[in-house]
Amino acid sequence: MAGELSPIDKAKFVAAKRAVDFVEDGMRVGLGTGSTAAWMVRCLGELVRNDGLKIKGIPTSTRTAELARDCGITVISLDEAKWLDLTIDGADEFDQDLNLIKGGGGALLQEKIVATASDQMIVIADVGKEVETLGAFPLPLEVIPFGWQTSQALIEEMLISMDVLGRNTTLRMNGPAPFVTDEGNYILDLHLNRIGNARQLSMVLNQIPGVVENGLFIDICDKVVVGFGDGRVEVRDINDGSIEEDRLDFLEDDNLFRDLGD
Ligand code: 5RP
Repeated sequence: MAGELSPIDKAKFVAAKRAVDFVEDGMRVGLGTGSTAAWMVRCLGELVRNDGLKIKGIPTSTRTAELARDCGITVISLDEAKWLDLTIDGADEFDQDLNLIKGGGGALLQEKIVATASDQMIVIADVGKEVETLGAFPLPLEVIPFGWQTSQALIEEMLISMDVLGRNTTLRMNGPAPFVTDEGNYILDLHLNRIGNARQLSMVLNQIPGVVENGLFIDICDKVVVGFGDGRVEVRDINDGSIEEDRLDFLEDDNLFRDLGD
């Protein structure tokens, strides 16, 4: 039931619910990964099952693919879709230019490929993800396992000349073993505290051998739907500068909460 959700989960839910208003019949929709994106997949599933919405979903991780199928959404691969109308995904941080840090859930590689192959990317986030300057959230970096410690050393050396406040890097773990991405890679988390020039950092990081992709999404996001714990939502559009405000009600008997909430 919605009443049992924490304010942050309510904020995530209302952002997700508002964002699916942008999905239209016939669209190929990129489905993000993470707890906020999971709400969005559930909301879309409801529209598919109850309102006959016809879409094809392109998931950004194996866990999103599984959830989408469970929710009744037709899932196709990116190669089958080739190009997408819209991607809706969460974020770990967003700034006023709608540049993002993503990859807290370890799916940044597929997320970046899918979002870049979309006419539009909408980010859904609780208001706590908004920052003045990116970098408080550790920046995830996907690296290949071969020689990852050498890649890590090269990254730390490169960071000396970058406009960042912290330079510590850690291998993401899953219990006693390294966390492994859907592509079989590792994640290094870069504890930078503040990123002065995100565009430059993103380009330089991707030139280091062994780095597959970084979690900075620069000029990729078009809109952010910001959710608040009291049901308010704001839709901010970077292209036309508009900000729309709205308020969503929580329905106590909402199937989403009864059947699928986590
Ligand atoms: C996964 C991501 C997620 O979008 C990001 O971590 C936000 O997650 P959540 O919605 O659970 O806060 O980038 O790789």
